[in-house]
Amino acid sequence: MTQTLEHEEVRIHRGPRSGLPLIVAVHSRALGPAVGGCRMRRYDGWRAGLADALRLSEAMTYKCAVSGLDFGGGKSVIVLDRNAPVTPELRAAALTDMGEFIASFDGTYRAGPDVGTSPADMVVLRRSTPHVYCLPEEHGGTGDSGAPTATGVLAALRAGARHVFGSASFAGRTVVVSGFGSVGSRVAAGLAADGARVLVSDVDGGRRDAARRSGYGWVEPADALGTAADILVPAAVGGVLTPETAARLAVRLVVGPANNQLSDDTVADTLAARGIVWVPDFVASAGGVVHTLGRESEGLDHGAAVRRVEGIGDTVRLLLKGAENPLREAKALVGRRLPPG
Ligand SMILES: NC(=O)c1ccc[n+]([C@@H]2O[C@H](COP(=O)([O-])OP(=O)(O)OC[C@H]3O[C@@H](n4cnc5c(N)ncnc54)[C@H](O)[C@@H]3O)[C@@H](O)[C@H]2O)c1
Repeated sequence: MTQTLEHEEVRIHRGPRSGLPLIVAVHSRALGPAVGGCRMRRYDGWRAGLADALRLSEAMTYKCAVSGLDFGGGKSVIVLDRNAPVTPELRAAALTDMGEFIASFDGTYRAGPDVGTSPADMVVLRRSTPHVYCLPEEHGGTGDSGAPTATGVLAALRAGARHVFGSASFAGRTVVVSGFGSVGSRVAAGLAADGARVLVSDVDGGRRDAARRSGYGWVEPADALGTAADILVPAAVGGVLTPETAARLAVRLVVGPANNQLSDDTVADTLAARGIVWVPDFVASAGGVVHTLGRESEGLDHGAAVRRVEGIGDTVRLLLKGAENPLREAKALVGRRLPPG
């Protein structure tokens, strides 16, 4: 029996210094070199890390294609043990190992920061390979992409709000922001500045004071997906929209930066059947990659790159126009860019 390998290249390698499993998954290079973050997190074994790399690299293909970028989708993962301590020495060894691993791709896979890594970590990768994005500004990069990602999410939210509520303004709307981190806190600020009532949720209870200082309400994480509101912004982790959570959502619009929000594609049908408009994550979360590649690969200035990020609003308008299922529309848009096969 033959099985189709949907990914163009997947390599797994044990880091010679760290002993940790390192994974690079390239979903597609049909439009250009594969790009995608280098993730470092604890998993229940390397197979779970591999599953994450496969899913996330595929999402990067869609994100680049739908955003009009001539790049493909990839992802790298450093698999930390679920229970073993992570010393600074182990972290540094793992990053050096990953730098050499990425160098072996000769520019056909290019990395940036992701969950568990930062612009400062990219300096370590850069010692082995030039194919690294988002170094800190003092090292010649564009640094943390949280701000442009939030700009893109806000553009997607405005287009979504116009479609659902007939107005792109958030004045008087109640919005639940699940995940009050780098992107979520910026999106919350943008919404509040436009008059929204913002309710924040985060598993890190320490963020509660920061939320209160900003004048936001607080929702316990267990309640975030069932809270009655106008809009939900998933800005924490993937996989939060399941058949079960989709059935109890009490909002009309869902737009956020978290990657791979759906547990599976059928959840998009459930949401559509319930009249809830969900903007696909690979469209709404593309601001960071659009800004970074615009600046670092095309040499755009900041203003031009931000204008391009705001174009995400146009893509969302196009997807929602007459669409029953925005996921299907977005995948059709991807399909029109990608060569068949
Ligand atoms: N930073 C970017 O440029 C970027 C780009 C594209 C996509 N994303 C995705 O957007 C999401 C947010 O990114 P970020 O950079 O703000 O990350 P972050 O780590 O700064 O913030 C995430 C926040 O979510 C909280 N959290 C974790 N699990 C939670 C849960 N189950 N419920 C509620 N809160 C929870 C964390 O405590 C943290 O405060 C991630 O899924 C990330 O992969 C980020």
